[in-house]
Amino acid sequence: MTIDKGNILSIIKGRRSIRAYKDTPIPHELIEKILETGQWAPSPSNVQSWRFIVVKEPAGLRTLKDLSPGFPRKAAAAIVVCSNTREMEPFDAVLAAEEAAMAVENMMLMAYSLGLGTCPVVSFSRAGISALLEIPDHILPIILVALGSPDERPAPPSRKPLLQVTSWEKYNGQ
Ligand SMILES: Cc1cc2nc3c(=O)[nH]c(=O)nc-3n(C[C@H](O)[C@H](O)[C@H](O)COP(=O)(O)O)c2cc1C
Repeated sequence: MTIDKGNILSIIKGRRSIRAYKDTPIPHELIEKILETGQWAPSPSNVQSWRFIVVKEPAGLRTLKDLSPGFPRKAAAAIVVCSNTREMEPFDAVLAAEEAAMAVENMMLMAYSLGLGTCPVVSFSRAGISALLEIPDHILPIILVALGSPDERPAPPSRKPLLQVTSWEKYNGQ
């Protein structure tokens, strides 16, 4: 198997958090492709506690946006990434967020490679989203992903120099 490393790097570096979207609906098949990459993320003991709820019907999506101050108003869909806390119970609770984050990054990279924009959102009312989507108590919403056809090309926000965030062998940073 050959791996196109150059392409992976350009996809990783090219993805941006998109907050401006066109009024274009996203085909169901593309959303399924994106979800599939979430499912192929690493998972602690392969527990796969993640649950994905896609919201794209206008009424539900509007209310979801009202409950999520950080959510881009014009995004065409939301993927609500949750964890089944019963499945996560044998593990440290922090693993639910770590697992979800890995699934989210996979999905955002896949969306970008399909020409779509995404934005991860953590500022939302957990109780409000749970009530809206009829999520039972043992399913914990962790992060929302806004999805849509991008209407902006933001400049890449700067990254700290690699040397500032990296140590070799022993910690020697700030
Ligand atoms: C865990 C997490 C939560 C975030 N929450 C929000 C959010 O609520 N609203 C938002 O507009 N962006 C949010 N972002 C996006 C960041 O602002 C963005 O990733 C960062 O500025 C770097 O920009 P880039 O994603 O274009 O590289 C979040 C990112 C992460 C990783």
